[in-house]
Amino acid sequence: MFDMISFIERKRDGGAHTAEEIREFVLNFASGAVPDYQASAWLMAVYHAGLKGEELKEFTLALAQSGQTLSFGDLRIVDKHSTGGVGDKVTLLLVPLAATCGVKVAKLSGPGLGFTGGTVDKLEAIPGFQTHLSSERFSDQVRRIGCAISGHSADLAPAEGKFYALRDVTGTVPSLPLICSSIVSKKIAGGADAFVFDVKCGGGAFMEDYESAEKLARALVSLSRALGKESMALITDMDQPLGEWIGNSTEVLEAVSVLRGEGPKDVKEIVINLAGAMVSIDSELSFEEGCALARKKLEDGSALEAFGAMIRAQGGDDRVCRTPETILPLAEKTHTISASEDCTVQAVNARKIGEGVKRLGGGRMSLGDPIDLSVGVRILKKNGVSAKQGEALLEILYSDDAKLADALPYFESAYTFGKANEPAEETVQRRLILGKIG
Ligand code: URA
Repeated sequence: MFDMISFIERKRDGGAHTAEEIREFVLNFASGAVPDYQASAWLMAVYHAGLKGEELKEFTLALAQSGQTLSFGDLRIVDKHSTGGVGDKVTLLLVPLAATCGVKVAKLSGPGLGFTGGTVDKLEAIPGFQTHLSSERFSDQVRRIGCAISGHSADLAPAEGKFYALRDVTGTVPSLPLICSSIVSKKIAGGADAFVFDVKCGGGAFMEDYESAEKLARALVSLSRALGKESMALITDMDQPLGEWIGNSTEVLEAVSVLRGEGPKDVKEIVINLAGAMVSIDSELSFEEGCALARKKLEDGSALEAFGAMIRAQGGDDRVCRTPETILPLAEKTHTISASEDCTVQAVNARKIGEGVKRLGGGRMSLGDPIDLSVGVRILKKNGVSAKQGEALLEILYSDDAKLADALPYFESAYTFGKANEPAEETVQRRLILGKIG
């Protein structure tokens, strides 16, 4: 009989658990035999005392094996995980781009979390696109065309989902071992052989400073390797939103424009770097050679073709690759925020922009809320750019006047200004890739 009280006390007093105890605990929690109040006490003990190397490994494996696990047979699969940001449409482009570079990508994605958007929500904007594939269809598609993106099924690592919900209401989300086991267990259950992590850092990310982002990146790489998975992490800037558009349809629009050789440079550069990382952990090529290959495939239109093939394979309308404005739902009402005097933009606070888009209806205020896929904002002036009095800074697409009124204070307070012609040189020279681990 599993003794949960002793288990909690051991962690409370800084002791270590055996592999067997951890497996029993996770099984008992998943089945409901361990009640939430005892699991919560243990989570808080871990928050303070941590989990040592072997414990963390066993806990992660136990979470991964708590439900269905995917397997791709002889295919070597690479997956990518972003810790989440504002305007982070990277997955939409990266998955087909990496596939054109010869990487087999089976990407499991989630809905938006907090003030950050989710890939599954964005893909829902493409008419007909099936965001939840059966495991057979998922693996068959990867085998046939090299890539697929699917929402997490509730059967994958179900104990992780149960722990996550409990952490969310017990103040135990920001614990390094709990974050790492949560992320890596889902990747392991998803059947990939190698992972690339995009650890976002800055005001629009969960990790606001470089030190904590680097700690997380190192911990993710070392846990993955301990579990036999090749892995690499890039630490990327999320002080201001990525690209110009934030929303769901609007981010698909921007992803297509980058795939067509237009669109913002920051999105293009991040995607190329992450694709370079995926190529380099999957082949003999170096990171730099991987980036060069990815740049070529993005610029010669191969990645756009692969995006179209993925959309068709998942039942979506591939006209989104040619005439996205006529295919995607885009809100008809617009509101513009303009400069009240001549100025230079010193900073655009990504978190406030994310919170604003959520209030427009582009994200969920509570679990299960429906999303308005058509709303979004376009940032016309970013850090370091000058604006004349009356010039537009931000364009808002919205559907509901009351929601716009709720969102406006977030957008209006997102900007910090300096005097006109006082260039914020250090921000003009934005560094996108802040670090590389592994
Ligand atoms: N994302 C996850 O999947 N898990 C965490 O614990 C934090 C961020």
